[in-house]
Amino acid sequence: MNKIIFTNDVSKELKLTIENYSTSKIFIFTDDNTSKYCYHRILPAFEQEPVLIEIPAGEKMKNIDTANFLWNLLSTHNAERTSLMINLGGGVITDLGGFVASTYKRGIDFINVPTSLLGMIDASIGGKNGINFNNLKNHIGLYNNPKINIISAEFLDTLPEDQMVSGFAELVNHSLLTSQEEWNKIKSINPENVDLDYLQSIIKRSAEIKIRIVDSDPDEKDCREALNFGHTIGHAIESFFTDKNVPILHGEAVAIGLIAELFLSNKNFMFDFKKLFEVVEYLATYFKSFEIKFDEYEQIYEFMKQDKKIKKIKLDFHC
Ligand SMILES: NC(=O)c1ccc[n+]([C@@H]2O[C@H](COP(=O)([O-])OP(=O)(O)OC[C@H]3O[C@@H](n4cnc5c(N)ncnc54)[C@H](O)[C@@H]3O)[C@@H](O)[C@H]2O)c1
Ligand SMILES: [Zn+2]
Repeated sequence: MNKIIFTNDVSKELKLTIENYSTSKIFIFTDDNTSKYCYHRILPAFEQEPVLIEIPAGEKMKNIDTANFLWNLLSTHNAERTSLMINLGGGVITDLGGFVASTYKRGIDFINVPTSLLGMIDASIGGKNGINFNNLKNHIGLYNNPKINIISAEFLDTLPEDQMVSGFAELVNHSLLTSQEEWNKIKSINPENVDLDYLQSIIKRSAEIKIRIVDSDPDEKDCREALNFGHTIGHAIESFFTDKNVPILHGEAVAIGLIAELFLSNKNFMFDFKKLFEVVEYLATYFKSFEIKFDEYEQIYEFMKQDKKIKKIKLDFHC
């Protein structure tokens, strides 16, 4: 079960959390962006300066070599079972930090402080931790929840705009899974110019939607698959462009996946066309476009068949 605090004052909440905690040593895990832009915001929470660990930013670092580097570092700094790791960053840092903390000496406690929009509403929630392996995404990992997850939109003022827009794909996803009212709120926001106090309330709602779905299906046997909306096609699009060395962010691929899957829902299950049009219009306004040629559809379909969430080559779309 996730324990989550939503706050506008992350260092105050972190200080309170640490004060109630008996820990021998604190490690802060960051990448080179979050150590630069986010670390100073949490530093007032500590009476003694913690051990700061920094890795280069990016998905390419989410691998066994970085995990090895981190285990070594914990070991040389004499981290004990009572040590605490604070993962300060986007999904790469929370996935990797959660994995390393959960396996070092059979598990030390960790806290997530997500700093990207995707991290706040998705990656830091749900207890999935892991690394990529042999070019397969999230191939090695485990389920384990952080002791606490502290979520604050205050970090987002330094998040690059493309990362911010990309995170909106998951906000759209969660809102469409929930209600017309939630979707109405999202479609009125311009992701390129959003008030962070207002966004904090939107993040809270969206994170709660994910928590509700995850808590009702912790083993991913049933309705947690609903969160995969937009991802069956989205993951294939992400792999297709990555394979061609065309950079694409996860949310950018999911936005295309959402549109494609909504078209299928309209065709097969009469999903409301007006709403479909609204979603297309919203995503087309703010997201970058990517060209896919007619004769490339087959390659994308092949990637879809490799998706680990697809059983027995039966494509299962959740809309
Ligand atoms: N565990 C899960 O359930 C789950 C769910 C969804 C995604 N994920 C994983 O999350 C990862 C993607 O997460 P992401 O999009 O956050 O990527 P990321 O961690 O790479 O962060 C994106 C970029 O933004 C930078 N950044 C983050 N916060 C910043 C801030 N406040 N100011 C300035 N720069 C900042 C990072 O340094 C990085 O360059 C993927 O590895 C994906 O597999 C996991
Ligand atoms: Zn996603």
